[in-house]
Amino acid sequence: MITAALYDAKPYDREYFDRALGSERIAWQFHEFRLGAQTAATAAGMHVVCVFVNDHVDRTCIAGLAKGGVKLIALRCAGFNNVDLKAAQEFGIAVVRVPAYSPHAVAEHAIGLLLTLNRHIHRAYNRVREHNFSLNGLVGFDLVGKTVGIIGTGKIGRIAAQIFRGFGCRVIAHDLIPNTDWAAQQGVEYTSLPALLQNSDIISLHLPLTPETFHCFRRDTLQQMKHGAYLINTSRGKLIDTTALLDALKTGHLGGVALDVYEEEEGVFFEDHSEHLLQDDELNLLLTFPNVLITSHQAFLTREALGEIARVTTENILRLDAGHSPLDGTAL
Ligand code: NAI
Repeated sequence: MITAALYDAKPYDREYFDRALGSERIAWQFHEFRLGAQTAATAAGMHVVCVFVNDHVDRTCIAGLAKGGVKLIALRCAGFNNVDLKAAQEFGIAVVRVPAYSPHAVAEHAIGLLLTLNRHIHRAYNRVREHNFSLNGLVGFDLVGKTVGIIGTGKIGRIAAQIFRGFGCRVIAHDLIPNTDWAAQQGVEYTSLPALLQNSDIISLHLPLTPETFHCFRRDTLQQMKHGAYLINTSRGKLIDTTALLDALKTGHLGGVALDVYEEEEGVFFEDHSEHLLQDDELNLLLTFPNVLITSHQAFLTREALGEIARVTTENILRLDAGHSPLDGTAL
């Protein structure tokens, strides 16, 4: 029997992993706490650890995993910025991920956030429940004809661009490696980053977090954005310098900000803190702006995505245990 410890486990993880084909050949241990240097010892005797976006798999943690005999780190997400790949290689631990479980889930959530924020649906919902049927303060704008800047035209960014095209938006894009055939087909124009910043009414980020993209939205970048523009981030919190973002909001330079991810989300997002004081002053401040909408890293959370995450992860665990290579494109 293969043994696997799954960290940061939520009820929906258990449900989908228990149900995945072949899962009966794996003895799962579900831990609600996250994996990190402090908790690595809990994996002793396990063949596999299965981690998510806020597990902290640094060198010390990996050394602890290797000591306990772990042979595989299976990320049940696409981003892998939280795993020290070099250390894993040095300690002889394989790393796999789920590169594309449902790019639609994330792209659709990004658009959902924008529509909610722009049309004040979250505020209207609360008002009407209080029998306040006034429309004051709920004025939004049409999406048709607006210019949307997509930064990162990988799997998710391309779908987001196509949805915006469906709304009748002009879509401009920026990527290190432009996909010109796709752009020509979809009527999307690639442009430089400064031109995208200056011309977009809405900017949506679909970039991985890397040393190059860390704080790529900082003071000077935000200042180059159009006055009143909207910024959407469903990628990774650390793409945006929160202090600079708060200043751009306070001066009224940004029209609206929708975030599914936050720079310091580790230890806060995915948990119920309703009975405690939040100690993060910048998050507390962000939550006070009427033109800021935050969700708790839930863009991936659809039935389709959860099913695919469990399927690919389980199949990879079984394949590696049988001495085969992981599914194409999933090895790191
Ligand atoms: P992808 O790898 O298909 O696309 C990323 C694109 O960014 C590529 O086209 C790449 O060339 C481009 N890129 C990388 N560095 C760049 C740079 N410095 N400047 C310009 N372009 C650059 O990734 P995918 O699947 O579209 O995912 C994007 C990100 O979305 C992931 O890295 C992950 O962080 C995030 N994500 C968030 C989820 C959520 O629940 N909120 C769920 C899944 C992914």
